[in-house]
Amino acid sequence: MVVSIAREGEIAVITVDNPPVNALGHALRQGLWDAAETLDADPGIRAVVLICAGRTFIAGADVTEFGKPPVPPHLPDLVARIETAAKPWVAAIHGSALGGGFEVALGCRFRVAVADASVGLPEVTLGIVPGAGGTVRTPRLVGAEQAVAMVTTGKPVKAPKALSLGLIDTVIEGDLRAGAVAFAREAIEAPLPAPLCDRPASAPPEGFWAAQDTTVAKAARGAAAPLRALACVKRAVTGDFADALAFERETFLDLRGSDQAAALRHVFFAERAAPRPKSLKGVVPRPVATAAVIGGGTMGAGIAAALRNAGLPVVMVERDDDALERGLANLGGIFDGAVKRGRLTPEGRADRMAGVTATTDYGGLADVDLVIEAVFEEISVKRAVFAQLGAVCRPDAVLATNTSYLDPRDIAVGLLNPDRFIGLHFFSPAHVMKLLEIVPTPDTAPEVLANGFALAKRLGKMPVQAGICDGFIGNRILKHYRAAAEDLVRAGVPIAEIDAAMRGFGMAMGPFQAQDLGGLDIAYLQREGARARGEDVPPTLGDILVRAGRKGQKSGGGWYDYTPGNRTPQPSDAVAELLAGEIHPGPEMDRDAVARRLVAEMAEEAAAILAEGVATQPSDIDLVKIHGYGFPRWRGGPMFHAMQRGAEGLTQDLGRSPSDALMAVLGQD
Ligand code: 3HC
Ligand code: NAI
Repeated sequence: MVVSIAREGEIAVITVDNPPVNALGHALRQGLWDAAETLDADPGIRAVVLICAGRTFIAGADVTEFGKPPVPPHLPDLVARIETAAKPWVAAIHGSALGGGFEVALGCRFRVAVADASVGLPEVTLGIVPGAGGTVRTPRLVGAEQAVAMVTTGKPVKAPKALSLGLIDTVIEGDLRAGAVAFAREAIEAPLPAPLCDRPASAPPEGFWAAQDTTVAKAARGAAAPLRALACVKRAVTGDFADALAFERETFLDLRGSDQAAALRHVFFAERAAPRPKSLKGVVPRPVATAAVIGGGTMGAGIAAALRNAGLPVVMVERDDDALERGLANLGGIFDGAVKRGRLTPEGRADRMAGVTATTDYGGLADVDLVIEAVFEEISVKRAVFAQLGAVCRPDAVLATNTSYLDPRDIAVGLLNPDRFIGLHFFSPAHVMKLLEIVPTPDTAPEVLANGFALAKRLGKMPVQAGICDGFIGNRILKHYRAAAEDLVRAGVPIAEIDAAMRGFGMAMGPFQAQDLGGLDIAYLQREGARARGEDVPPTLGDILVRAGRKGQKSGGGWYDYTPGNRTPQPSDAVAELLAGEIHPGPEMDRDAVARRLVAEMAEEAAAILAEGVATQPSDIDLVKIHGYGFPRWRGGPMFHAMQRGAEGLTQDLGRSPSDALMAVLGQD
């Protein structure tokens, strides 16, 4: 039974039980409708409590039904049915009341919640707007400003704040059901508040809409739903209730079938598939209660911060006292930044630092459960570190390397118990970036692989399993993308045009701007290293710039010029001169064609990665680019984009036939 009814005197308690998250599929909508009919007709009942079994209140519409024809009762009708029921309904919320779930709660006359519950309208994160009155009832409950904040960002609001804003009526301490029934008993003895459909929506202060148009458009960076959600709230405040509902529903149905919504649904399911690889079903990770980082540089400090933020005690090991002092300063700097931005209290900062043991002595690692190495990207240095770790750590301690490009198997050469060794590739800044590439070697034990995923969950990161190759998934595609961008420069497309095209596509930055920010020298040194080892590394335009001293912003210029103190890239005559001999203009390309070419090139490399088994599924590659490289979420990632373009579109985009590997991904080999 998805919906069941119990009676406690004059109060009926409807319990929804539709695992895993009580999504509003057809059976639940029908069940609630029938319950409303039954209870309206029951003279012994004066109020209704709506509560859910399992981990959460109703988490929204059933996303899996979105591609299918809607079956009545439709959600907006159900919400209206509850709102106009003969008896007042009380939504009793635990977990999350999200999207359609919160809309059902808005149809109820009252909302009560436990303290750790949250409510929200996250529809924009799925490329849609609320479709059952969320944009119309929320401003009638809490005003336009709060409604706009909720529907345009999709961010949920925790119960205590929801109470102070008026989104809920009370926070229940102790048992939710008993508290909600007691609340209902009291509520029916006082005059009832008007249902939201009968309440006016007050106008926001002058200038509000114009300011929001700009703010929301800027934050959306090409995503369509936030601006459409804003328009719905505006209509809800300026139009009447029925007109606003119709406008919202029309917008919802229009967006539900859009490419952006399809892309965001793809990401939604990809994010739930990646953390749970089938191969790890039933595998239990080793317990981890303490951790260590080796190296307190850019990555070591960032990883230590991430570990401390998750509550793990951390040992930081550096090579000498000076480096250790710098490492602690790096870590302190990260927490200072959090304090400055109001994300951490000064006491919290002190607590974070108090949980760090700083040492130059590897002997302090005898009891740690997990070690993450982040020393120089130099095989001999890393091997020496693991030799020491092998000698001092427990044989079952998990030992991880954060290498970007080295082969983890080479790093682990000679390590005793190599089943405990794994690659955990964090992204800079490691306490911020969501992506974690998890790179097992052939020797890694399944439970140690499971440790990688468990750690990601603990740190709030998005884990993606990657196989061993040069650059794993993300950096390998990045390398190919940069080479393809250089090819366009060779074909006469201006550098600034390429960057503008990629920003226009929705990337946070263009490829050349990004290199200037990070520095061109790191990749250059790597190429030179490979050349010195006799590997065949073709010359790049970046080589020419670095050899001319142009290493990026830090050297005053790279692909662009910069005036001191100003990070705005200026097209550079010096670069034009340096590269003049390399440029052989081809056919003109507009920005769309440039962006499509580069994304198709990413997809080509991604397809090769899949064919080699370095990535297990196309959606993992999409997550890597979205969470590690600023690929626009609403585009779904390069593989999703490629599938949408199809073989014909990709042939046009690449100016040639797609590779066999890419055709195989498209299912057209
Ligand atoms: N529809 C269908 N399935 C859903 C779902 C939904 N709305 N929300 C979650 N699920 C599924 C997940 O796919 C997952 O399935 P799986 O176990 O087979 O992989 C399972 O439920 C558990 O989900 P999580 O792993 O995400 O569970 P958590 O406990 O970590 O999180 C949650 C729970 C916070 C509720 C989270 O699932 C969530 O945020 N869900 C999405 C909420 C949402 O976006 N709601 C709005 C939907 S759109 C809408 O309501 C339109 C309306 O306005 C008309
Ligand atoms: P970094 O140069 O900022 O820091 C390295 C630190 O390691 C230094 O503080 C150094 O003193 C310390 N160190 C060197 N030898 C040591 C030893 N034997 N014992 C203890 N400490 C030692 O380098 P960064 O950028 O933090 O990189 C570290 C690793 O992370 C490299 O393998 C790099 O490839 C990888 N990485 C770097 C990313 C980045 O964006 N910087 C991103 C992802 C991975």
